[in-house]
Amino acid sequence: MMRHAVVVLVMFVSLGLDSQVWARKAPGPAASKRVELELAASDLAALKKRAEQYHASLPKPQPLGMDEIVAYEEHKHFVCIVGRAARKDPRGAGSYSLLRRMVLLKPSTLVVDDRITDLPAGKALHWKLRLRPAKAVRGMFDVTTGVARSPVNVSYMIVRPGDVALAPAKKGSGVIVDAMPAVKDGAARVVSILGVGGRQAPSVKSDSRDVPLVLDILNGSLNCKIILPAGVDEAGTIAITGSKGEKILPERLLPSGILPHGPKGVKLLASWDSRYTRKNAAPWDTRRVAVELKKAVEDGTIKPGRAVVLGCGAGTNSIYLASKGFDVTALDIAPTALAMAGARADKAKVSVRWMLVDVTKVPKLKPFDFLFDRGCYHGVRRSNAEEFVTSARRLSRSGSKFLILAGNANEARHYGPPRVKETDIRKDFTSSFDFTWLRTTQFGSDGEKNKGPLMWSILLTRKDK
Ligand SMILES: C[S@@+](CC[C@H](N)C(=O)[O-])C[C@H]1O[C@@H](n2cnc3c(N)ncnc32)[C@H](O)[C@@H]1O
Repeated sequence: MMRHAVVVLVMFVSLGLDSQVWARKAPGPAASKRVELELAASDLAALKKRAEQYHASLPKPQPLGMDEIVAYEEHKHFVCIVGRAARKDPRGAGSYSLLRRMVLLKPSTLVVDDRITDLPAGKALHWKLRLRPAKAVRGMFDVTTGVARSPVNVSYMIVRPGDVALAPAKKGSGVIVDAMPAVKDGAARVVSILGVGGRQAPSVKSDSRDVPLVLDILNGSLNCKIILPAGVDEAGTIAITGSKGEKILPERLLPSGILPHGPKGVKLLASWDSRYTRKNAAPWDTRRVAVELKKAVEDGTIKPGRAVVLGCGAGTNSIYLASKGFDVTALDIAPTALAMAGARADKAKVSVRWMLVDVTKVPKLKPFDFLFDRGCYHGVRRSNAEEFVTSARRLSRSGSKFLILAGNANEARHYGPPRVKETDIRKDFTSSFDFTWLRTTQFGSDGEKNKGPLMWSILLTRKDK
């Protein structure tokens, strides 16, 4: 069978990780379950460095087997990278699409979740992942395999460290995972969990029949729980506990977009997140629906449809929109805010799509009928007005409405939220949006004695262009 294999899909990657997929005639049932694994070592430090050096301006193909990186986060305990690739066989025998999710659990575990789709009908798959060490091979690892059929539209295979000793790797050959997942409806999935960087292989508990896939990984002294989602549009979650069961990272979403990174970016994320981890609620988290939003929905200015909330915080206004029949997607860069928002939505029995996303670098999403922002634009514009408006354009289509509630520069007090001048608001939005209204009001909500600082209520309508 191997001799007749036609190499139709090959991916070369410049920065140390490559994978190859062979499509070939569908083998019999026994052969389709055959899995071969060869695992040597990789240099995690180098891999981590490469990940951390990721920059959008890297020439194509992007590192790590991806054409395009669609989500990225650096965190004290992990690095998460999600990317896509599309490959065509130069000889015309087929093509495939790859969605690759990688989570590096510091210091020594790498999870690679590959979904291969759009495979030619009637072909089996030979999947191979190679991690090349930057310098020398530093150790060897143990693996075991499990094969499972998933109840969803994808067949997948989980490849994880265990108790089968493998031959030592030759110097320079790195880590190779070689597998043949079953293909169902032109799709397959391979999840590999690797011990890398010369460390001991992680111990992993998981029920490979579960979709979403729940992985319990012992990474050094830390217990990491990663939930890999069933759907390609979902992000999954991560939680970390210490050896005595203490919470190190409460369960939170993995990123759906490229988050601010590098030392400054990581600091920015941590600083917003810390506003939601304190005992006292953040001053803006009043749990009251914004009066201007409520009015616009109740008087029919804004009609139910697809809505996106930018910088949604702990979710009050997103939950309100969902309760009014909107199909809501809510974005924020603070994972703890999104976790709080998710819990509140569960309590209110409404469904909202929460996404860990930087509003200045939004992922590709189907345009929305309505955009809402309370308190995000006025802060973000100080460093990134242009990118904020570019995102608003990407998230809207001709005729979409955008309601923004922002600090008002006419406020005389010296404390309170960031303020924006009318001239700046007009400058930011005029080229892409028409102004339906721009009026002065206050941040306070119904039932509050103190009506709070001055606020702009801005209703925009997206222009045709
Ligand atoms: C002042 S709070 C307002 C929160 C919420 N809209 C409310 O009314 O309660 C601003 C929110 O924007 C989020 N944020 C700040 N910069 C962001 C960015 N670049 N991308 C996404 N969210 C951001 C913060 O994490 C925070 O939750």
